[in-house]
Amino acid sequence: MLEVRGLHAGYGRVPVLHGIDLTVRPGEIVLVLGPNGAGKSTLLRSICGFIRPTQGSVRLDGDDVTGLAPEAITRRGMRLVLDGHRVFPELSVRDNIRLGAAFRGGRPDFEEMAAPALEMFPILREKLLSPARDLSGGQQQMLALAQAFVAQPKVLLCDEPSLGIAQALIPPILEFLRRWAARGTAVVIVEQQIDSALAVADRAVILERGEIRLSGAAEELKRDARVHAIYLGLDETEE
Ligand SMILES: Nc1ncnc2c1ncn2[C@@H]1O[C@H](COP(=O)(O)OP(=O)(O)O)[C@@H](O)[C@H]1O
Ligand SMILES: [Mg+2]
Repeated sequence: MLEVRGLHAGYGRVPVLHGIDLTVRPGEIVLVLGPNGAGKSTLLRSICGFIRPTQGSVRLDGDDVTGLAPEAITRRGMRLVLDGHRVFPELSVRDNIRLGAAFRGGRPDFEEMAAPALEMFPILREKLLSPARDLSGGQQQMLALAQAFVAQPKVLLCDEPSLGIAQALIPPILEFLRRWAARGTAVVIVEQQIDSALAVADRAVILERGEIRLSGAAEELKRDARVHAIYLGLDETEE
């Protein structure tokens, strides 16, 4: 479904990614782990077309989408949910969700399409008519995911869904992503919550300075001391 080969990208003349390979099949969750500044967000942005790769390729459902504009890539079924729970604060919860469907031609049955998300996040149903700014950070993250969900992407890329939200809201968000993938979506999650994210993922790659240092089945990486070591070692030097 998503096939990234030898991807290089950066900002201006500064290279950040040095040849990334990543394959995600339908129904699979692949986790991208790595310390701050490793290039995780840059990877998601260059897959989605927000940054033009300097080398390598991105294939979506068999089609080469490398270098296409982000709108074109989105239209073909890729969706990036940015970190920092971004929603339209003045719009109601309902209208925020509706925007995801609007993108697919304003389907009138968007609430039905949103049902699995509203079931998982009942607070959104309760607050359907409230402006999104009334929601907590974690609830706004749920809303951003619900909006992406009704767009029904083939490939979902999710940048640090747990960033800056209450600890208690992280499990339902990860569980929602797990159920979403189970419907046949290829899901890539960038996370810092290593253990809880490994629990829902099928595979993981660990990025360090723009390269994949370690990859494997989530089940195995859970027990691999190197996973935490890469974080701890670098986090100390960077902060
Ligand atoms: N907009 C930008 N312009 C220039 N450099 C950037 C920009 N965004 C990120 N970088 C640099 O790219 C590298 C990787 O950043 P990023 O992909 O955000 O890492 P991560 O998401 O893993 O924390 C860092 O060295 C960072 O300083
Ligand atoms: Mg990042």
